[in-house]
Amino acid sequence: MSIVESAGQVLREGAFGHATGLACRECGHEIPLGPNYACPECFGPLEIAYDFPAITREEIEAGPANIWRYKALLPVPSDIEQSPNMEPGYTRLLKAHNLGRELGIDNLWVKDDSTNPTNSFKDRVVACALSAATEFHSKVFACPSTGNLANAVAAAGARAGIKTVVFIPANLETPKKVNSAIFTDSLIAVNGNYDDVNKLASEIAGEEDGWAFVNVNVRPYYAEGSKTLGYEIAEQLGWRLPDQIVIPVASGSQLTKVHKAFQELIKLGLVEEKPYRVFGAQATGCSPVSVAYKAGVDAIRPVKPDTIAKSLAIGNPADGIYVLDICRETGGAVEDITDDEVRAGIVLLARTEGIFTETAGGTTVGVLKKLVETGQLDTSLETVVINTGHGLKTLDAVTELVGAAATIDPSYDAFRASGLV
Ligand SMILES: Cc1ncc(COP(=O)(O)O)c(C=O)c1O
Ligand SMILES: [Zn+2]
Repeated sequence: MSIVESAGQVLREGAFGHATGLACRECGHEIPLGPNYACPECFGPLEIAYDFPAITREEIEAGPANIWRYKALLPVPSDIEQSPNMEPGYTRLLKAHNLGRELGIDNLWVKDDSTNPTNSFKDRVVACALSAATEFHSKVFACPSTGNLANAVAAAGARAGIKTVVFIPANLETPKKVNSAIFTDSLIAVNGNYDDVNKLASEIAGEEDGWAFVNVNVRPYYAEGSKTLGYEIAEQLGWRLPDQIVIPVASGSQLTKVHKAFQELIKLGLVEEKPYRVFGAQATGCSPVSVAYKAGVDAIRPVKPDTIAKSLAIGNPADGIYVLDICRETGGAVEDITDDEVRAGIVLLARTEGIFTETAGGTTVGVLKKLVETGQLDTSLETVVINTGHGLKTLDAVTELVGAAATIDPSYDAFRASGLV
């Protein structure tokens, strides 16, 4: 690979695959690739622009069983498999017979991203952010996080041998804190909510040289990792888009990128064009996008989060307005449920499909149920629900709900006397 100058940085040619620059989502202004995330003209969010090659299904299918099978559609070099990373993705898509029967949905699938290396979909975005941070010669790999991202950044940094510093709200669940601290000695708990942590991270990114905040100054590269969720769903359905998809919303990045992935697959001729409906899921205690959707307004009013779904507790979502656009344009909706319904959603998925999801998944499954009950979701259409994280990270949310074990003496009589069977 030869060397090229771009945005004052020395970049290897081909280091970003088929990416050609950064384009503003609002005004379309393009700038060269670099560690930038806001449009210099209008401060709108920057996204990766590409000149995609012609690519076939067979070429993708011949790739590795992880997100790098889609490397031609990501801002990463063609030899990305050679650099140490967590190799996330290609998680299972399970037919949810029992949950479908319970909810009256004929054809339901669960895309289970809790089986990624650090047990959430965040390993996907971090893999792309790590590749960009490496190209920008970053000294520190960092993030503000509601928990899962911190886990993924800390683990990926450890494996790549890069220093990590992760910032979280101080009141996060203990398992998520331990899951970061095991990989890095620089876990910083901030007295405040996620939006305070995010503000601090932006300030540090502006002051310190050589820090790659995965979801701040390398956000355009990071966000592309979420597209792989959409690619996989289509490929695992036999190169077909689902009719309906339900996705949890915090910043809204994941939902917008799954939609982007579907659109790219159509443009590349890898799937047939068809209508599909996108639904967003939030917990009522932090539901600024759902509130705006229901009010029929375009502006999202920031809120102070108060919910057990802490991974979704972003009161001022960066991509909220785009979530609104996508859900409206595709004929979907944004819905929210109470914390009790979130807990019930976790138990419902566990008892029907044997999948233990965290509060974000409880929110998604609970919202799916509410969408059926309120007639917003068409139960005759093929539907995919995404489980984004593992239940062992938010054990406290359901510990009391499921109760203690029935404790008996080790005798057959005691077993019979327990009345359990
Ligand atoms: C488990 C889980 N699901 C969903 C989300 C929402 O992601 P996004 O911020 O892309 O909307 C998060 C965000 O942290 C998460 O941790
Ligand atoms: Zn702009």
